[in-house]
Amino acid sequence: MKIGIVGTGNMGQAIISRLKGYSLVIYDKDVLKAKKVSKKFGSVVHTCENGKLGGTDVIILCVKPQEIKSALVFLSETGLKKKTVISIAAGVKTAALEKALGAVSVIRAMPNTPALVGMGMTAICKGKYAEDADLKRAKNIFLKIGDCVMVEEKDMDAVTAVSGSGPAYVFLFAEELIKAAVKAGLPLKTGELLVKKTFAGASNMMCSGARKLSELRANVTSRGGATEAALKVFQNEKFGEIIKKAVRAAKIKSGKLAKSVDK
Ligand SMILES: NC(=O)c1ccc[n+]([C@@H]2O[C@H](COP(=O)([O-])OP(=O)(O)OC[C@H]3O[C@@H](n4cnc5c(N)ncnc54)[C@H](OP(=O)(O)O)[C@@H]3O)[C@@H](O)[C@H]2O)c1
Repeated sequence: MKIGIVGTGNMGQAIISRLKGYSLVIYDKDVLKAKKVSKKFGSVVHTCENGKLGGTDVIILCVKPQEIKSALVFLSETGLKKKTVISIAAGVKTAALEKALGAVSVIRAMPNTPALVGMGMTAICKGKYAEDADLKRAKNIFLKIGDCVMVEEKDMDAVTAVSGSGPAYVFLFAEELIKAAVKAGLPLKTGELLVKKTFAGASNMMCSGARKLSELRANVTSRGGATEAALKVFQNEKFGEIIKKAVRAAKIKSGKLAKSVDK
């Protein structure tokens, strides 16, 4: 299978880096950037200068939602018969893509940046012209960059707000924990190491076992102990509410991005 990638920024590169074994044709409006990316990822990647993405079976659109209109104009000129177009643009609905591209097989996907280390989480759904086989093919591509789940399109803004943006929430928590470590008297380097390894270890525990998160948390929380004292602060400061508010803001923004593209 030959895959075209349009847009070679953060996510485009994360996907390219993990698609070993596929023949890739990449295109970016910045031709120099595309060439650099091509060099970085080796010989299976071929840059496309004439805008044709020739011979590709699947095209993955990795541009910002704000830039999607110009990319769709370009795509509609390349001839999409029998191709599947996968868009990873936050908030951009399959109906909007079909409106611009015509009766084309369209898949909407929401990956996240841990794809860079092969631990991405992607949710996908299909448009009205895509077959189940197209969805399966898309799933197989995203399984190369981590895990993949099929969802209904109505849930895509929520997915964006949870796993698409989620790595940023985790990084923010880690940054703040490092600052707190320094404030508590630890050298910065030690604080960074403690926090990063704690996140890595806890993530592994979450994903590897069948135990509930609440059980894992309870195991660290002795009655009257230090962890309990910290968790009480989180609870009193309504940590859960802050998270719900943040996810809601991201979900609303994702929906608004869609509307700006529909116009
Ligand atoms: N970053 C994330 O965590 C994340 C997670 C999930 C989904 N997404 C989605 O992934 C998409 C890409 O995000 P990103 O962070 O990778 O953006 P990015 O780093 O800005 O990459 C987009 C690339 O596409 C290029 N481009 C713009 N218009 C183009 C066009 N018409 N044809 C070809 N190339 C074009 C841009 O060039 P210029 O820089 O010159 O404009 C840039 O190189 C977004 O739609 C976003 O919603 C991102």
